[in-house]
Amino acid sequence: MTSGDPLAAGAGVLVIVPTYNERLNLERTVERARRAVPLADVLVVDDASPDGTGQLADELAARDSHVHVLHRLGKQGLGAAYLAGFDWGMARGYQVLVEMDADGSHQPEQLGALLEALGGADLVLGSRWVPGGRVVNWPWHRKLLSRGGNAYARIALGIGLRDATGGFRAFRRETLDRLALDGVASQGYCFQVDLARRAVEAGCRVVEVPIEFVEREHGTSKMSGFIVREALWKVTLWGAARALRAARTARAEAPTSRRRKVSPWR
Ligand code: GDD
Ligand code: MN
Repeated sequence: MTSGDPLAAGAGVLVIVPTYNERLNLERTVERARRAVPLADVLVVDDASPDGTGQLADELAARDSHVHVLHRLGKQGLGAAYLAGFDWGMARGYQVLVEMDADGSHQPEQLGALLEALGGADLVLGSRWVPGGRVVNWPWHRKLLSRGGNAYARIALGIGLRDATGGFRAFRRETLDRLALDGVASQGYCFQVDLARRAVEAGCRVVEVPIEFVEREHGTSKMSGFIVREALWKVTLWGAARALRAARTARAEAPTSRRRKVSPWR
């Protein structure tokens, strides 16, 4: 926390932390978040982790009234966990909803900077791929996947964002209201791209703030072949739909004489 800004201290903020087998990481992450943004609440959304993360979350909640837990029946993907977390937070009147990983990759000490930037934005993305952003301890193939995935999303979707796949971000509640979340079907990490693209298309002010992403020390990533394939497939589909829409608009706006030339039977 660098200023006296109540938003940067977490007033009205819910930090949503999805977990699947994060027993070795959760306590430290929650502790760091509570210290970094003392006015914020934390919601752990656990998908019945076999390693007992949900139980640990209950213990943390029993000790601290700022910590809450949402238990889900089984592993249903990052997207479903966040949608449930957003619902929980919106129903309770939080003004700002934050996404943050449980494994320490997203540093709670950078929450203040994200929240400060939300003063002039509708959505703030913590970004690894803008100047000042960086990734620590990622193997080359993860860097390549992230950079490649982001380049593809940027070109296919026409969104001018450097890191649309990242999961450290802050939404104003009004922004979530504008994103038609009922229609979001993305299960894996392409959920992040889906929300970023919806925000840009809805005309929201999306701002990227540099973050330092540190690879986890404990436990394992839940990234999988299914997640990569879903993202590739969905981004391609959204890109094609966008191109089709653009072509239709161009046709509708073309002068009648030209349209006749192209299609004399209409
Ligand atoms: N509840 C729930 N359910 N939580 C999940 C699930 C799920 O199905 N899958 C993953 N998580 C949680 C993890 O426990 C962790 O807290 C967070 O989501 C991120 O998962 P990781 O498995 O650590 O992701 P990563 O480090 O490989 O992925 C990074 O890249 C993704 C794609 O760019 C992060 O930057 C993600 O934020 C990003 O979306
Ligand atoms: Mn991780």
